[in-house]
Amino acid sequence: MSLLNGKTAIVTGAGSGMGKAIAQAFANEGANVTFADLNYESAKTAASSAGLNRVQAIKADVTNDTDVANLVNQTLEAYHGLDIVINCAGVPQSFTAIEELTLEQWDLIMNVNTKSIFLTSKYAVPIMKQQKSGSIVNIASIAGIRARPGLNAYCASKGAAIMLTKALALELAPFNIRVNAINPGPADTPMIGKFLVGNEQQKEEGMKKIFQDSVPLGRLIQPDDIAQGALYLASDLAKMVTGEILNIDGGRGI
Ligand SMILES: NC(=O)c1ccc[n+]([C@@H]2O[C@H](COP(=O)([O-])OP(=O)(O)OC[C@H]3O[C@@H](n4cnc5c(N)ncnc54)[C@H](O)[C@@H]3O)[C@@H](O)[C@H]2O)c1
Repeated sequence: MSLLNGKTAIVTGAGSGMGKAIAQAFANEGANVTFADLNYESAKTAASSAGLNRVQAIKADVTNDTDVANLVNQTLEAYHGLDIVINCAGVPQSFTAIEELTLEQWDLIMNVNTKSIFLTSKYAVPIMKQQKSGSIVNIASIAGIRARPGLNAYCASKGAAIMLTKALALELAPFNIRVNAINPGPADTPMIGKFLVGNEQQKEEGMKKIFQDSVPLGRLIQPDDIAQGALYLASDLAKMVTGEILNIDGGRGI
């Protein structure tokens, strides 16, 4: 039997990288899936490559209250329930000295990486409370527990995502709603190059030195590695797991 038969999931950031891999894996495991992304074209392409009629693509800015409310409502209308929310949309930060960081940069990083979890919870939790079940998985980062110089706002946003996960896990446990997070290590997605500064050669060296060589298992994390963890946490395989922060990082966080 498929792990998510009959379940309905929203995956944010589903147009690229990990979100796309998670949404496609969930669809393959039997779920109805809303692929949500700020970039509608990429969400649509990702959803149609799943080749199933149980999926839809929705344009949503996860920092925007109205967009998130619409995202939840349109998912309810299409599939008559909401069991799983995966908060995967995120933005990176390249090395920026704290005195150089603009207020706009700080706000964008905090809004996309952290406020989004508040907003999706605000609209999804009432439905899950009514159903007396639900599973929320937040894609945080190993940078949320292991700081790196110059990634000030990014580390803060992911640290906050981790603590919000734990606070919500306790708050929502009486309603049988589980809340967990995954901390990916450096991952082979379009985002990874955006953490680096310098010319092409410097970026290439940085990719090897800062990312690949920093992973004890010796390779970058693949989007599928994250999809497998999200599948476990979202499904009934993890029915007694809540407030857990799962590092999928090849040992980077040790
Ligand atoms: N790639 C890494 O090395 C790495 C490591 C640790 C954690 N992460 C985290 O994993 C998650 C997925 O990252 P990825 O590597 O797959 O990145 P990615 O850039 O491939 O995908 C991110 C997606 O989020 C979408 N997005 C950005 N802002 C949005 C908004 N306001 N509303 C809706 N969608 C928005 C983008 O359009 C994009 O499709 C992010 O939260 C990221 O911070 C990434």
